[in-house]
Amino acid sequence: MAKPIFILNGPNLNLLGVREPHIYGSATLEDAQTVARSRAAALGETIEFRQTNHEGVLVDWIQEARLSAKALVINAAALTHTSLAVHDALKALSIPVVECHLSNPAAREPVRHVSFVASAARGVIAGFGIHSYALAVEA
Ligand code: DQA
Repeated sequence: MAKPIFILNGPNLNLLGVREPHIYGSATLEDAQTVARSRAAALGETIEFRQTNHEGVLVDWIQEARLSAKALVINAAALTHTSLAVHDALKALSIPVVECHLSNPAAREPVRHVSFVASAARGVIAGFGIHSYALAVEA
């Protein structure tokens, strides 16, 4: 059976739609999943979409992607800016990795300009709200 594209989401993204809507918009993570799933279907791909608030769980899922996914889209949320563990787990993958963000962290506070994901990714999609997920699947 063909492997899915893993789409992994980090802390607080379960609150998408109610959390700082002036930054992240009013769409929910469910909506992001729908957008990603339909773009994947149009490309003949399937997705495995997950969210966790826990760094270790995210590391476990990245490791799972090593053998079970054909590619990985990751929005590590705040862990993007802090997690060497996420970086190290991503470096162990040989599948393509796309970093994905709703907002554009490069245009926000300086603390968000650092990414532990970017240096382990093929590329970065940021700033297009939930459509970032569709663009990341396409990438
Ligand atoms: C985010 C950007 C991060 O800086 C922030 O911590 C998030 C969401 C985004 O998708 O725009 O939680 O990853």
